[in-house]
Amino acid sequence: MAEAPLVDVQNVSVRFRRRRTGLAGLLGPPATFRAVANAALTVARREVVGLVGESGSGKTTLGRTILRLVEPSEGNILFQGEPITHLREGALRRVWGRMALVFQDPLSSFNPRRSVGAALATPLMLAGLPKSERQDRVAASLQRVRLPREVAERFPHELSGGQLQRAALARALMLDPAFIVADEAVSKLDVSVRSQILNLFKDIQQELETSFLFITHDLHVARFLCDRVAVMFFGRIVEVAPAAQLFRMPRHPYTRALLATLDDAGERTGQRSAVDQEAPGCIYRSQCPRRIKRCDEAHPPTLMAGPGHALACHNPG
Ligand SMILES: Nc1ncnc2c1ncn2[C@@H]1O[C@H](COP(=O)(O)OP(=O)(O)OP(=O)(O)O)[C@@H](O)[C@H]1O
Ligand SMILES: [Mg+2]
Repeated sequence: MAEAPLVDVQNVSVRFRRRRTGLAGLLGPPATFRAVANAALTVARREVVGLVGESGSGKTTLGRTILRLVEPSEGNILFQGEPITHLREGALRRVWGRMALVFQDPLSSFNPRRSVGAALATPLMLAGLPKSERQDRVAASLQRVRLPREVAERFPHELSGGQLQRAALARALMLDPAFIVADEAVSKLDVSVRSQILNLFKDIQQELETSFLFITHDLHVARFLCDRVAVMFFGRIVEVAPAAQLFRMPRHPYTRALLATLDDAGERTGQRSAVDQEAPGCIYRSQCPRRIKRCDEAHPPTLMAGPGHALACHNPG
């Protein structure tokens, strides 16, 4: 029997209230919208899954929903086979001990008045470890991310961006999580530092066999780091495939457009237009060169295009 996925996202939607003002608010579109719409995604043990898509496509929302930091309005999330969608605070804490989040901006994720060592020790303290043991674990964790142990005495503002992101990764690893969501974890770093930190993520992942959801708008990063990549467009996952396959043979017209317009920074250039997400039909149809009649009528069902390669399209290329 195949191993059950570590994370199993089943038909998850997240609804937000639209921020609206004035007459446009009264006459405009409905008061809520789906930042994530019927998303299905798995992350296997030891797997790194990339989540790519333009700004506002719902990547962060989906990542935070898997960690139960955002409530889904529909669907189910299973973690290590256990449904966690309806767990309450107490039971959630146990699950949170096995998951972690690394943010884009490490400086804002550290308390400026506490030393790096204190920040790293906090999860251990909450888990009830004695002080003597905490210090050793903090030192070992700094070593794991290739930081000198003196960094424990420093304060966040005394570190460089790269050092701080290493410390953020060390903190995420303190309780040996099975799963980490890294949300644009290298986006704010200088290009020179970025590749070092990417290599660190790769080394750590291989060393500890941690599973990752690696959120990035940089497709080069996804290609470098990920086993599989999921592409989001306006709240929908439109294509998921093994990374090599996705970049060599993208099938969804949106993925193709995304790859075709990549600039050197791995980002998509050009404008995107608004989409009426609740109208019937495919969300990508107004921009799609392969639009056929069916695209106006119904949202495409998910097709399997090969092993581990799924896409939602009526007329794939
Ligand atoms: N708490 C919230 N309340 C209302 N709308 C929200 C909230 N959080 C996010 N949104 C909206 O949901 C949509 C998806 O946002 P999200 O941050 O998940 O996108 P993203 O793909 O992570 O974008 P980026 O690449 O810019 O980080 C956007 O339209 C955003 O404005
Ligand atoms: Mg985001």
